[in-house]
Amino acid sequence: MAVSPENTGKRKVALVTGSGRRLGRQSALALARDGWDIVINYAHAESEADRTVEEIIATGTDAFAVKADITDSSEVDEMFRLTLARCSRLDLLVNNAAIFPRAAGFTELSNDLWNKVISTNLTGQFYCARAAAKAMNRSGGKIINFASLGGVQVWAEHIAYNVAKAGVIMLTKALAKSLAPKITVNAIAPGTIIIAGEESGDVNHIDEKKIPLGHYGGPEDITRALLYLAHADYVTGQILFVDGGRAIL
Ligand SMILES: NC(=O)c1ccc[n+]([C@@H]2O[C@H](COP(=O)([O-])OP(=O)(O)OC[C@H]3O[C@@H](n4cnc5c(N)ncnc54)[C@H](OP(=O)(O)O)[C@@H]3O)[C@@H](O)[C@H]2O)c1
Repeated sequence: MAVSPENTGKRKVALVTGSGRRLGRQSALALARDGWDIVINYAHAESEADRTVEEIIATGTDAFAVKADITDSSEVDEMFRLTLARCSRLDLLVNNAAIFPRAAGFTELSNDLWNKVISTNLTGQFYCARAAAKAMNRSGGKIINFASLGGVQVWAEHIAYNVAKAGVIMLTKALAKSLAPKITVNAIAPGTIIIAGEESGDVNHIDEKKIPLGHYGGPEDITRALLYLAHADYVTGQILFVDGGRAIL
């Protein structure tokens, strides 16, 4: 097992929700390569989270994994308590974790599914942002939320997801106003991002020819936007669409 490098207070600390796998993992790795210590959060993907921690430590910054269901505010608060206990600081929250359930027509949308999508994709971001804002209270920091193109475009078979991500866009603007000037709050709104080796194949993607820039995005498109916002000191309340131009259609 790799040995964690000591943080003498110089390296900044980022907590990325849902970062054991997929885009969260890519975001965590990109921030680590940029010199940040990382708190990896997961709900189910324990072995993937441990693998990501090992990979980060091998690059020379510190990382540790915390299991917490972001729909449970007490688990969220405990995750931030553990973060401060281990790292003594928090500089960046990346609200990445979400679910994207299978397509369902409106009348097939059950109470349980509606509540699960709203609580994971919207309320979870609220719980994490509130805990992060308290943790960043003295020195300030940054929050980057993951919205979606689906927060401004209607996908008739993903209505709960549309509503939750529209909520993330308003949450981003509202928090930017209430947490200024110490904490900046911005969002990344991805279009279709394909993650090599991690696609299940059961999602129907838009025809690439219908995307203005002519192709799907990759994780590097997202991590470039993330690193920009992680360093942007004079930008708050913005929604950065990384969607190949689909939001202008
Ligand atoms: N990929 C795209 O094309 C695309 C497009 C638009 C927007 N986005 C947004 O970009 C972000 C990342 O996308 P993605 O495709 O990588 O997402 P994804 O596959 O839907 O996200 C999965 C991640 O969220 C975590 N998660 C789910 N429920 C959780 C909970 N209750 N508590 C803690 N973690 C939980 C999962 O962790 P466990 O496995 O440990 O449960 C996993 O790490 C999401 O916010 C997504 O909505 C993505």
